Amino acid sequence: MQLTVVEHPVVQARLTTLRRTDTTNAEFRRALHQLSTLLIYEALDDVHTAAVEIETPMAPTIGTQVVDSPVVVPILRAGLGMLEAARLLLPDALVGFVGARRDEETFEPQAYLDTVPPLEEGPAIVLDPMLATGGSLIHACELLRDREAGPITIVCALAAPEGVEAVDEAIDDVRIVTAAVDERLNEVAFIVPGLGDAGDRQFGDA
Ligand code: PRP
Repeated sequence: MQLTVVEHPVVQARLTTLRRTDTTNAEFRRALHQLSTLLIYEALDDVHTAAVEIETPMAPTIGTQVVDSPVVVPILRAGLGMLEAARLLLPDALVGFVGARRDEETFEPQAYLDTVPPLEEGPAIVLDPMLATGGSLIHACELLRDREAGPITIVCALAAPEGVEAVDEAIDDVRIVTAAVDERLNEVAFIVPGLGDAGDRQFGDA
């Protein structure tokens, strides 16, 4: 497994906004969108490209275009707040949705939606702001492997060390791009110091 922790100060400033208790839901959504843009940009540093002949107003030249765009897979609900950033960077990408709600007693993901298309060895990017126990992301990665995904990149705002280890044990050939690996999980499997619940902070706790 490859773990990339993006230390850039602008990334860390956005993560700090997400962490603060006094950040409103609207501010949280905006900061998550901005942070996601930066993290997904980093995650795309090995995206496949092809040379393309173009004309500038001055002369012909050779440019670059993205080919074999990764399928983008947000995990509902919280991953929805990262989707628009991915669509801006990869406007031609297919999107497959995975719905998973963590049972707050067993901490196991309860799956309720799956629209992941066949991948035919193509790459995929999975979006979820939080990697806690890893159950939700492992569920999503297993779905992707069932659809014959090639390389999988997980993009999350922050992670717990327990979740990183669980993903590493469960899923081969995976990369994690995140802004931070925090100290630990607490007794109810929330990341500490963390940011609370990313779904509730975007959409409310209904
Ligand atoms: C949260 C979070 C992740 C998951 C992380 O979602 O957004 O999807 O928990 O926990 P895990 O690594 O232990 O699986 P939640 O289940 O609260 O659903 P929501 O996104 O609908 O709020």
